[in-house]
Amino acid sequence: MSELPQYGKHLHPNAKMRAVVIDRYGGPEVLRLATVPRPVPQRGQVLVRTRFIGVNPKDIIVRKGKFQVATGKKFPLIVGHDIAGEVVEAGLGADLEEGDLVYGMINDFAGRAYAEYAAVDCQQVARAPSTIGLEVAAAVPLASQTALQALRDDARLQPGQSVLINGASGGVGVFAVQIAKILGARVTAVCSHRNVELVKELGADEVIDYGQTELLNLGEHFNVIFDVFGNYHFEKMKHLLTPRGIYVHTIPSARVFKDVARTFVRRQRAKLVIVRSRREQLEWLRQHIDGGRLRVVVDRTFPLGDVAEAHRYMETKRARGKVVLAVD
Ligand SMILES: NC(=O)c1ccc[n+]([C@@H]2O[C@H](COP(=O)([O-])OP(=O)(O)OC[C@H]3O[C@@H](n4cnc5c(N)ncnc54)[C@H](OP(=O)(O)O)[C@@H]3O)[C@@H](O)[C@H]2O)c1
Repeated sequence: MSELPQYGKHLHPNAKMRAVVIDRYGGPEVLRLATVPRPVPQRGQVLVRTRFIGVNPKDIIVRKGKFQVATGKKFPLIVGHDIAGEVVEAGLGADLEEGDLVYGMINDFAGRAYAEYAAVDCQQVARAPSTIGLEVAAAVPLASQTALQALRDDARLQPGQSVLINGASGGVGVFAVQIAKILGARVTAVCSHRNVELVKELGADEVIDYGQTELLNLGEHFNVIFDVFGNYHFEKMKHLLTPRGIYVHTIPSARVFKDVARTFVRRQRAKLVIVRSRREQLEWLRQHIDGGRLRVVVDRTFPLGDVAEAHRYMETKRARGKVVLAVD
């Protein structure tokens, strides 16, 4: 069988597309619309015509050049990870078909999502939920898979256990509260006063307004602490963990790596979630969304051309749920 890329009926190998690129690392002003070559799906990939793109803090970290070791110095660079759209071409061996509506996250460190088309490994996408539109589906992949991996895989949260979720009203937090409930846990969620009602509606058993209550003085013990916002750390909070409690961080730092290594053989453990997109997880999430058990909260949708404004909004750290870009 030929190893050469296979071109579909409608697409030309020299075709172009619109994309948001950066030519250097920096502030939101480095994001610009450009015309670039359209990718060609390789073996096991599909070409997705992206309709909506989810914005994540990771996109901003990449744009700032904070992970240059991984993202390199080759420009122009297309950032972004979350996509929802339609398969327009399937590479050799791909198990999705032209016309399938899909959602997913590109696992590459810099991503390639802020564009009209993305060539994505089939295992990093799945058929989109049928009960929500693609605009809402684009808000799901990275944030919800982070919450699912942190709670189910890293913390191994069990029915009847208790979990404290700090940063419960943001992109990851709104999924974490609901996924913890689906897993059968008792949820104590932490957010600001203005988001207490939202987080209650999502199913939290108890909501703490961090403006009123100092978390360090809580007289409770939790099986799991998921520090989504990342303004605490294991050493500071371990007195709130049960003797075999697990603390899951989202933000990598020297301190976090040290705590993860140091507690590897201890009863109380520190862990760091590092999200990866997997078909199995996206299917699990789709079932719960379509079953009405998992609600997706979209705060704002910006046109692709207003991507800098979308980044500025995310950088306020006040987004309630997710921020989305509309391609058309
Ligand atoms: N390691 C990984 O694989 C991974 C994956 C995904 C995300 N992350 C990281 O996880 C963090 C959260 O991501 P996200 O998408 O949820 O971010 P986000 O959507 O930007 O978070 C915004 C939320 O943060 C809350 N917040 C602001 N100040 C707070 C405080 N002092 N205490 C508690 N909550 C506060 C806000 O709620 P209020 O307005 O109510 O305060 C807002 O709803 C980011 O640093 C991101 O880089 C890591």
